[in-house]
Amino acid sequence: MEQTALKQLASRLSLEEKVGQLVQVTPDFFGNQGEITGPLRQGADQQKLYQIGSVLGTHRAQEVQQIQETYLANSRHKIPLLFMADVIHGYETIFPIPLALASSFDSELIQKVARSSAVEATKEGIHVTFSPMADYVKDPRWGRVLESNGEDVRLSTELTKAYVRGYQGNDLKDETSLAACVKHFIGYGAAEGGRDYNTVDLSDIELYQNYLPAFEGAISEGVRLVMTSFNSIHGVPVTANKTLIQTVLRGKLGFEGILISDWAAIAELKDHRVAENSREAAKKAFEASVDIDMMTDCYSQELADLVEETESMEALDAAVWRVLQLKNELGLFENPYRGMKTTVDKKELNEVAYEAATRSAVLLKNEQVLPLKKEERILVVGTKATSTDVLGAWSWIGDCHAAVSLAEGMKKEFPHLTILSVAEETVEWSAIEEAARQADKVVIAVGETSEEAGEAASRTDLRLREIEQTLIDRVFKHNTNSILLTFSGRPLVLTEVEPKVKAIISAWFLGSQTGSVLSALLSGAQNFSGHLPMSYPRSVGQLPYSYQEMSTGRPKTSENADQKYISRYLDEENGPLYAFGHGLSYSQFTYSALELSAKQLQKNGQLTLSVTIKNDSKQAGYALPQIYFQDEFTEVIRPKRELLAWQQVNLQPGEKQMVQFVIEPDDLAYVHSNLRRTTDPGAFRLFLGTSAVDILSETKITFVG
Ligand code: NOJ
Repeated sequence: MEQTALKQLASRLSLEEKVGQLVQVTPDFFGNQGEITGPLRQGADQQKLYQIGSVLGTHRAQEVQQIQETYLANSRHKIPLLFMADVIHGYETIFPIPLALASSFDSELIQKVARSSAVEATKEGIHVTFSPMADYVKDPRWGRVLESNGEDVRLSTELTKAYVRGYQGNDLKDETSLAACVKHFIGYGAAEGGRDYNTVDLSDIELYQNYLPAFEGAISEGVRLVMTSFNSIHGVPVTANKTLIQTVLRGKLGFEGILISDWAAIAELKDHRVAENSREAAKKAFEASVDIDMMTDCYSQELADLVEETESMEALDAAVWRVLQLKNELGLFENPYRGMKTTVDKKELNEVAYEAATRSAVLLKNEQVLPLKKEERILVVGTKATSTDVLGAWSWIGDCHAAVSLAEGMKKEFPHLTILSVAEETVEWSAIEEAARQADKVVIAVGETSEEAGEAASRTDLRLREIEQTLIDRVFKHNTNSILLTFSGRPLVLTEVEPKVKAIISAWFLGSQTGSVLSALLSGAQNFSGHLPMSYPRSVGQLPYSYQEMSTGRPKTSENADQKYISRYLDEENGPLYAFGHGLSYSQFTYSALELSAKQLQKNGQLTLSVTIKNDSKQAGYALPQIYFQDEFTEVIRPKRELLAWQQVNLQPGEKQMVQFVIEPDDLAYVHSNLRRTTDPGAFRLFLGTSAVDILSETKITFVG
């Protein structure tokens, strides 16, 4: 629709119709008879329902079509509804959870996954996805780390941007493009004690340094929506936090799109006890410039009167305009049923799911037990051996039963396979022990259910469940060649079980292709290439933890490790069990030392860092050279080591390749006490590593500011 026609349409809306555009409900509000249920019920009527702007959580095209038809037939201006959904790691074809995908360190792969999700979701009538989640995280007690890109802000920013590019494509008019909604603004991942929805308190430096950049990245890619988070920050729930939203999100980050509340977050301002009633809650959210009220009746009941009372028609018009513009950009006025006629190539989607899963699994330990050989007698045993609960938390459309379990996948590849599943109630230990004795190798598959990771799935104990630990102990007594394969939505604490197994695989939740992919990785038909985007802690007592440790005034060193008054634990090491960036491969790579194109970096200049990598094995594989840096002296404290750049390099057996990294002054910048991000002149140490702690070589440069 032409902009002038859209403006005319906007000007014809009554006050109530304008408010309606800012209201979002679930499809069950549109029952068979169009009756109204749920939070809008009180005082709501049919007329209000046919004024609303958007619906969240439909499943199928048919449902969307039905709701849209009824709505259009009954609404005065026939402004099509927007349909939104949580398309987080696929729609029907389920890809690995975001934390797993982040293990690929590969933005191109993630862009491809997001594009594939968009193709499948738009076909079912979805227009907007509540993804990507750009929350900065360093506490795996918080179940939502599953949806994150891990603990490094630079990696997370790159991957967040890739999701937005993938979902939105080049043009939202393209019927296979989904508008993206980056969430949760802001600080949600810093929930105290790792408890979901809990209070957050952050310094501004931390906020600017680690929490905002991924949102800024999404905005730079043109993300159309932002979602507010449930938590408070600086003492005020974000959904009512005028300063943060207006000064930071709309101001500093320049976000001009739609701001939507999280589910019921406006009404929850009453539970936070910062609003006495719905009127006050609506007022606070609206004044903060939250455009869409997801699933409460605060806007629908209160906003019209409020706008009149406070003479804020201009703000209302601006919010409505943002909604209408998105509808127009998506081409909904021309085709309210957009996307439903496109075709989806299931085979292609499954191929992407297979590739993504292959690139997401992480081999944490391998003492010459992997790959498994076809002729070996293999026992696969554990709570997850035959489970199809491998898709992960956000697979509400995905068919769990269509997923390939580990045992199912392995059956095709290993002729001498014994499968024993372990369920809490019926464990036949003697049979397991006998089978372990008979086997050459044992694959122990254990871990979380999809209910135990994700939203509202915080945990204080990240060890394997008791029965799983017992299983490892019992197998260990009879067979020392075991491979531990864990499913989880977060890093687990494996410190106690680690010495009892020869290999460990973090399989996260890998999606629809889980069993086939894991089987191919176990047999060596495929190679491991995933690297941890989040550290595996040694103990839950270390949390929150990030590899970006600061120096402190009393740093622990190899010389003072036994002294008392230094920064350390009495009962545990400071570092993680498996560090950020760690991930093994069946290939062996050798790395040259780092080479610099110049020792000095000039203002507005750049320099190139090179390293030559060789695949010294008989198996093709991906190497992941990681460049870390340290600013030697800083105005505010900075990490001892911080990720600067990385590259996935695919090398054939015997192949050698030179990899280059271009460094510019801005790459070395950090947020100072004045909250400005600038680069200090002076010395910087540069490290080449295969993880945050496995450093192969080091060099130094000077920035001449
Ligand atoms: C609540 C979650 O926090 C958010 O991430 C999600 O998008 C909404 N529910 C909608 O389902």
